[in-house]
Amino acid sequence: MKAVVLCGGGGTRVRPFTYTLAKHLLPVAGRPVVAFALEAIREAGIADVGIVVSPSVEGQFRDLLGDGERFGIEITYIVQPEPKGLAHAVLCAEGFVGDDPFLVYLGDNLLQGGVTGVVELFRSQGPAAVVTLRRVEDPRRFGVAVIEGGRLVRLVEKPKEPPSDLAIVGAYAFTPVVFQAAREVKPSFRGELELTDCLQWLIDHGYPVLPYEVDGWWQDVGRPEDLLVANRRLLAGIALRVEGEVDAGSTLEGPVVIEPGARVIGSRLVGPVVVGPGAVVEGSAVGPDVAVGAHAEVRGAEVEDSILMDEARVEGGTLRQSVVGRRARVRGRNAEAQLWLGDESSVEIAP
Ligand code: DAU
Repeated sequence: MKAVVLCGGGGTRVRPFTYTLAKHLLPVAGRPVVAFALEAIREAGIADVGIVVSPSVEGQFRDLLGDGERFGIEITYIVQPEPKGLAHAVLCAEGFVGDDPFLVYLGDNLLQGGVTGVVELFRSQGPAAVVTLRRVEDPRRFGVAVIEGGRLVRLVEKPKEPPSDLAIVGAYAFTPVVFQAAREVKPSFRGELELTDCLQWLIDHGYPVLPYEVDGWWQDVGRPEDLLVANRRLLAGIALRVEGEVDAGSTLEGPVVIEPGARVIGSRLVGPVVVGPGAVVEGSAVGPDVAVGAHAEVRGAEVEDSILMDEARVEGGTLRQSVVGRRARVRGRNAEAQLWLGDESSVEIAP
C-alpha cells in the first residue's frame, strides 16, 4: 500500500505566514505540520509516500523534508500545476500510485489516533474505499456523511444545512478505481473536483465504501488560530527531555524539551514547552504551551501559549497567543501583546 499526502492548494487563510512558507511546513510543537502526517503514515506501516505540492513551494518541501529518510519513509514529490481540488490532486498522483491501493491524507490535518485504524479496516475488509469520519458540533465547513442502517449512503461537501453531524476527516483509503471516479465527477460549487463527490460516485456505482469513525481529537490547520490550538494539543503529549544547557539559575517545571545546542539562562520554564535546537532563552518566563523555534532568542520576556518560529527574536514585553514568524523581531517594554507576525517583520510594543 502507498500513501498520497495532499499539500497543494493556496493556503490563503493562513496568511501572513503562508506568504513565505507553505501551510503544511509551518511549525507546531517544534515540527512542521506535515511531519505528524508522515509519522502517522509510517506507524500505519506505509513507507512509499507521494506528496502533492504546488509548483511554487516544491523547493521548500524538498529542503525541509528531503527524501524522507529521516522519517523512515521514501518521499516522491508530485507537482499539481493548479489547485483544482482534492480529486484533481489525487489524479496528479495516478502515475505514482499505479495499480496499488493507497491512503490519502490531507496534509493540513492532525489526527490524535493516527491512520492505523483506517488502514487496518481497509486491509481486512477489502472495500473500494474507506472514509474517516468524526462527530463535530458544526459540520458546515466540512464534507458531511449520512449513515443509514450502518451503511454509508450519502456524502455532501460543505452543506449549508448539514444532514448529520458526521464530518469527513482528512484520511481516506482507496483502490485505483477512484481515478475513474475522479475523471467522471464534475467541478463543485467552489469550482473544484471534490473527493467527497468521488466517494458518492463510488457508492452510486455499487462499490463498497466503508465509514471509519474516530473519536480522538482532530484538527485541520486552516486558520492562524488553528496553529495555536494544534500547538497546545501536540505539546500536551511531550515528556521531559533536556539535551541542551540549562544553567543553575533556571527552573524547569512540567514537561519541557530542550533540544541540543539550546541554552536556558536565568529563566523559568513552565511546561509544556519546547525550546528548539540552538535557541537561547535568557532572563525570561516561558510557558505553558510555547514552542520556541530553532536558533530563536527570547530575552527578558514573558511568553505564553505561543509559537516562535526559527530565528525569531523576542526582547522584553509579554506575548500571549502569538505566532511570530521566522527571523521576525519583537521588542517590548512593560507591554503585553497578542501578535500574528509574518516572517522578517519587526514590531516594538510599548505601554
Ligand atoms: O479537513 C477536512 C476537510 O478537508 C473535509 O471535511 C472535506 O470534505 C474536504 O473537502 C477538505 O475540505 P477543505 O476545504 O478543508 O480542503 P482544503 O482546500 O483545505 O484542502 C485540504 C488539503 O488538500 C490541504 O492540505 C491542501 C490540499 N489540496 C487542496 C486543494 C484544493 C491540494 O493538494 N490540492 C488542491 O487542489
